[in-house]
Amino acid sequence: MNYQVVIPAAGRGTRMKADKNKLLLLLRGRPVIIHTLEVFEKDPNCNGIILVVQPEEASMFSNLVSEYEVSKVKKLVHGGAERQESVYNGLKEANLTDIVLVHDGARPFITIPIISRLVEKAGETGAAIAAVPVKDTIKRVEGGIVAETVERSSLWSVQTPQAFRMPLIMQAHEKAQVDHYVGTDEASLAERANIPVQIVEGDYDNIKLTTPEDLVFAEAIIQKRKLL
Ligand code: CTP
Ligand code: MG
Repeated sequence: MNYQVVIPAAGRGTRMKADKNKLLLLLRGRPVIIHTLEVFEKDPNCNGIILVVQPEEASMFSNLVSEYEVSKVKKLVHGGAERQESVYNGLKEANLTDIVLVHDGARPFITIPIISRLVEKAGETGAAIAAVPVKDTIKRVEGGIVAETVERSSLWSVQTPQAFRMPLIMQAHEKAQVDHYVGTDEASLAERANIPVQIVEGDYDNIKLTTPEDLVFAEAIIQKRKLL
């Protein structure tokens, strides 16, 4: 089943503490965003990438896309102050597709088999997100005191891609906009619009590069994959 993907890349990367957008940092000589884009470039079911960037970085991203010959990037769209606004701007350009995925530019280790499972599940049910079971024991804390230990078997760490039938995700975003609700992922907007969201078990390697330690983990993941 074919799909289009919206890739938000318009953040500042504040927590990475680099002197530029973290998506431009190099992993094995290539920018993080190129690693991410190349997975979708190679997936035969992907028929369009909408890349969302800050206006002042648009020409630089455009040059990178040309230099690395990422032919599926059809449009560069300007992002907003919040990730949610960036994604919404991208979704508005993802027309003529039944299924749309949203995938963080900062998750370069996504794989085609997981993407395919998400697309299939979203095609059947309307909405599906990648997630992995939580490994740690999680406690809810109030004022420095443990209030409760949350039953771990029901806890999942949520990632992207998040896959949706196009009208459902537009409806979820429009409702959030009317309500002035800002969520940290697309699924939270869908949940508020009473859209059931399915879990597809993802991969612990599909990390989001967020803080400087994550660059060390990224090197380890690349090394592990080379040995496999
Ligand atoms: N993003 C975006 N527009 C924003 C904020 C974030 O397109 N206004 C993108 C980022 O570029 C990233 C993804 O959303 O690919 C996930 O966000 P996050 O990891 O939080 O990245 P940043 O916002 O760049 O980092 P930070 O929060 O540390 O500043
Ligand atoms: Mg952010």
